[in-house]
Amino acid sequence: MPPLQSQIALVTGAARGVGAAIALRLGSLGAHVLLTARDTERLNDVRDQIQNAGGHATVLPCDLTDPAAIARLGEQVSRDFHRCDILVNNAGIALPSAPLHEVAPEDWDRLFATNLRAPYLMIRALAPLMIAARSGHIINISSLAGRNPLPNNAAYAASKWGLNGLTYSVAEELRQYNIRVCAIAPGSINTKFGDPSSGKDPNKKLQPEDVAAVVESIVTQAPQSFISEVLMRPTQKP
Ligand SMILES: NC(=O)c1ccc[n+]([C@@H]2O[C@H](COP(=O)([O-])OP(=O)(O)OC[C@H]3O[C@@H](n4cnc5c(N)ncnc54)[C@H](OP(=O)(O)O)[C@@H]3O)[C@@H](O)[C@H]2O)c1
Repeated sequence: MPPLQSQIALVTGAARGVGAAIALRLGSLGAHVLLTARDTERLNDVRDQIQNAGGHATVLPCDLTDPAAIARLGEQVSRDFHRCDILVNNAGIALPSAPLHEVAPEDWDRLFATNLRAPYLMIRALAPLMIAARSGHIINISSLAGRNPLPNNAAYAASKWGLNGLTYSVAEELRQYNIRVCAIAPGSINTKFGDPSSGKDPNKKLQPEDVAAVVESIVTQAPQSFISEVLMRPTQKP
């Protein structure tokens, strides 16, 4: 029997990049994957890939900067699926490189709404289902930028430092219910994220599937084991 048979897994930012790779991996492990992002066409493509491989997936489009839309998403999951075993808060954005004093307040707000408020609102919407089940995994995709200075991307770094603090704190709130809350902090990944003209070698970067492999090891742990944080670096500096 596949290890995640009969489990429900929701992945944000599942339309491409890391989120799509995580969704495909969770689907291959037997979970019914709920795919969310804004681009319905790309989400449908990921769903078709999961279904063509014999898995189960449902597309639930949502703009994560809209609190009401996240609340509706949570109600839909509760009504139609009655559970949520795995939540992967993966969606994230960066701003064009610029010193902080040149960042517009509305760009700061959009970035924080996506990278930090949305994980909070997703946990608010779905943790009650996990508490009722007395089990669950919440995986927040952070970044090494959440542990280091990142000049010219201070807002992005601040959002990921914040996401780490949220993760460590919520982990302590929820572990009494057998819910494991974990942060994965990767370095450069070969996706369309951020500044594609950075000049880094894409072949030396982490690949989205590398992050998906870490997610697999987290959601298939023995019940008494709690991987609470994973740092990932490309072996060779890209
Ligand atoms: N790539 C890297 O080098 C790197 C390194 C460390 C950490 N990370 C982190 O890894 C995560 C995934 O990054 P990635 O490289 O896969 O990026 P990506 O290829 O740009 O994908 C981002 C995903 O987030 C979704 N998204 C963005 N804004 C959204 C919104 N308002 N509502 C709903 N969905 C939204 C996008 O879908 P739609 O546009 O269709 O909504 C897309 O599916 C992010 O949290 C990022 O910070 C990336």
